[in-house]
Amino acid sequence: MESPVLSNQTFNKIRRLVKEEFGLNLTEQKKSLVLARLQKLLTQNSFNDFDSYLGFLLKDKTGQALSDFINKMTTNHTYFNRESKHFDFLRKFVFPQWLPVIKSYNPTKKIRIWSAGCASGEEPYQLAMELIDFFGYSQLKEKVAVLATDISTEALMQARQGIYSRENVFNLPPAYVPKFFLPKGANQYVVKPMLKDFILFKRLNLIRTTFPFKNRFHVIICRNVMIYFDQPTKDQLLEKFYQFLEPGGYLLIGHSESLMQRDKLFKYVQPSIYQKALKHEGN
Ligand SMILES: C[S@@+](CC[C@H](N)C(=O)[O-])C[C@H]1O[C@@H](n2cnc3c(N)ncnc32)[C@H](O)[C@@H]1O
Repeated sequence: MESPVLSNQTFNKIRRLVKEEFGLNLTEQKKSLVLARLQKLLTQNSFNDFDSYLGFLLKDKTGQALSDFINKMTTNHTYFNRESKHFDFLRKFVFPQWLPVIKSYNPTKKIRIWSAGCASGEEPYQLAMELIDFFGYSQLKEKVAVLATDISTEALMQARQGIYSRENVFNLPPAYVPKFFLPKGANQYVVKPMLKDFILFKRLNLIRTTFPFKNRFHVIICRNVMIYFDQPTKDQLLEKFYQFLEPGGYLLIGHSESLMQRDKLFKYVQPSIYQKALKHEGN
């Protein structure tokens, strides 16, 4: 069977769909990438051409077709200890501020961290590792919650499994490997169950107009996700991040990203680290 052709017109329809539903900004140069990524989906669903597939995608009311589609459209690349300065910052400046909450027995006070765009889970698992390493596992019970969200169900499935290659795991400080992982076969490791005690994995589209949260977060970490969004989409998301941060809470973004001073909501702390002002600071 010949490979299906992706016309510019159909590619533009796909671009519009991806932008409207998920905020992703697909440039014209991404056409061959889109073609390569979607070809298998077409075959799996027995479509010979992109127009019929697109028709099916738009008509499907279950959400499954759109979910399979976005699984192919997202880039979920990540690894342990990526941009490790953020973890250093948390340990040096943020975790010490949390000691009174962690040491107290007030059940209404909980530290909340949100890993937004967590991909295959390395980021939230490392957050849990840093917390356990700093405070001790027994200190953290009922005191800390890490929410880890992504749009890709495939990435979330990998995250929930918590199985990683040896090469990936060895990006972490050496002491973390026996402390937080169990070997699985010759070349893989699986995270120890204690890490999962603090993490809730959920599918969430970051461009939805409202977020389903009752409480605010002390840290929101959203790294290498907004690079795929255009500026208006980014601005809307930043407003929502601001709304869902505790006063004094931190927003961590990717090292190659910046708020470009367009966003006056946050106080600049250091590259890729921002803070929501405390109430008495005037916000
Ligand atoms: C490159 S990964 C970043 C992973 C990790 N934060 C890091 O820095 O290594 C980008 C992730 O953003 C997710 N993503 C893209 N658009 C999204 C959206 N509209 N809502 C939620 N997640 C989205 C993708 O599925 C992908 O897993």
